[in-house]
Amino acid sequence: MEAQTYNYKVVRQFAVMTVVWGVVGMLVGVIAAAQLFLPSLNLSEIGPWFHFGRIRPLHTNAVIFAFGGCGLIGTSYYVVQRTCNARLFGGWLAAFTFWGWQAVILAAAISFPLGYTQGKEYAELEWPIDILIALVWVAYAVVFFGTIAKRKVKHIYVANWFYGGFILAVALLHIVNNLSLPVGLMKSYPIYAGAIDAMVQWWYGHNAVGFFLTAGFLGMMYYYVPKQAGRPVYSYRLSVVHFWALIFTYMWAGPHHLHYTALPDWTQSVGMVLSLILFAPSWGGMINGIMTLSGAWHKLRTDPILKFLIVSLSFYGMSTFEGPMMSIKTVNALSHYTDWTVGHVHAGALGWVGFVTIGSIYYMIPRLFGQKEMYSTKLIDAHFWIATIGVVLYIASMWIAGVMQGLMWREMNPDGTLTYSFVESVKESKLYYAIRFSGGLLYLSGMLIMAYNTYRTIANGKPVEAEIPAISEAQHH
Ligand code: HEM
Ligand code: HEM
Repeated sequence: MEAQTYNYKVVRQFAVMTVVWGVVGMLVGVIAAAQLFLPSLNLSEIGPWFHFGRIRPLHTNAVIFAFGGCGLIGTSYYVVQRTCNARLFGGWLAAFTFWGWQAVILAAAISFPLGYTQGKEYAELEWPIDILIALVWVAYAVVFFGTIAKRKVKHIYVANWFYGGFILAVALLHIVNNLSLPVGLMKSYPIYAGAIDAMVQWWYGHNAVGFFLTAGFLGMMYYYVPKQAGRPVYSYRLSVVHFWALIFTYMWAGPHHLHYTALPDWTQSVGMVLSLILFAPSWGGMINGIMTLSGAWHKLRTDPILKFLIVSLSFYGMSTFEGPMMSIKTVNALSHYTDWTVGHVHAGALGWVGFVTIGSIYYMIPRLFGQKEMYSTKLIDAHFWIATIGVVLYIASMWIAGVMQGLMWREMNPDGTLTYSFVESVKESKLYYAIRFSGGLLYLSGMLIMAYNTYRTIANGKPVEAEIPAISEAQHH
């Protein structure tokens, strides 16, 4: 009677690998952070394999696509089934997306240290791996939208709109930005040149933020926050406005990554204005999520999973206030190339993406393994506080370092020469790099606590075969 149960197996696989890749990706981040104030850790004596330049893309791809990707695909499979009252569409295709995605991650972990790269940020993987990604992604889209199509509930719950938008946009971004001419098994050249190549790359790059690091995670937010709070979404109408406004606006904001470059000036201005407008839907969504707690605020005192979810929204609000500010050309003139950007990135990545994923996985693990709750709630609470201190140390040190670097680089003597050489700003940054490292180490320790808690919960439980109920959860919301 397989057809009457949800496919939890693939959700379990993705959920467990989210934790595993979280630990791995953040460990690589901690190593990269250490290399910036202890250069001997580049291990130059044994070869170029562990240089910062190769470790950095390994980190960014591992945390975004392995940790974030497994979290997104796993939760979307859980949410789409439970809100549509239908088993995942496509039979073995779901298993293919799991194993295919792990193969992509493995290929990344091998090819980056070996030095293979397209040199496009967040799209470093060479063309054969890009083709595998495209195949897995199309399979993912078929499974997800196929499940929507065979749903037993008329309404399509808003979380699915966000997941669906994310899936379609990422397919488009990935294919357009990676169009290239192979000249060898692991070497290719983009079909675009010059300023056009830069524009396409940052149209991709910014929408990787907007759709991979935001829209998909908003899908997570719209399911797991109401679930964990035991309250309906604050305003369902606002969530629909939020969706359309967000996906329309994000598409135009990319040029804020290319201020003062060879890009036509008017495109930079369009990018700036649309980034400023982006503040509105972002905060609308953030407020919608936080206000879902109306009448349930007291739960925050005792429920660390809810703490993760709600604090993630605060960081989302913070980084989507900071982002529009940094898009203003005169502000960007100070922040660009500095660690302020890196601080902004990790406010979003650790605070928003990390916390909402961690909260959602803590929600799902016991339910997937037949347990009432995680093995230890105290350990979740410990994880929450350690991670929060970690994020604060990370972003505060990068703000200070970033503003300091920006001010040092523009400081001029009365005769028009620069007051500081570049290396002086590097020397002054060392202390802040050490503080960032300790923040990262705390965040990683939190993930290790989570891995232990997950292991104990799974060891005590057993895989669940959940039957599809008569009434869907979408009707409850
Ligand atoms: C233990 C946690 C983490 C540590 C210690 C860490 C550390 C670092 C370091 C040292 C860099 C290079 C900065 C530079 O080039 O100067 C970096 C870049 C980056 N990391 Fe992390 N990271 C962590 C977690 C994460 C997570 C969870 C994500 C995403 C979900 C993430 C996304 C990124 C991105 C997108 C960049 C590139 C930033 C840019 O180009 O401006 N990191 N990280
Ligand atoms: C309204 C929303 C946002 C706006 C307008 C915005 C704007 C910006 C701006 C202006 C930069 C600096 C570009 C530069 O000087 O090179 C930037 C960098 C970045 N932001 Fe945001 N941001 C927003 C939200 C977020 C969120 C929520 C995240 C993460 C989850 C995020 C991740 C990043 C990343 C990864 C970069 C670094 C890109 C790179 O240079 O490699 N942003 N953002």
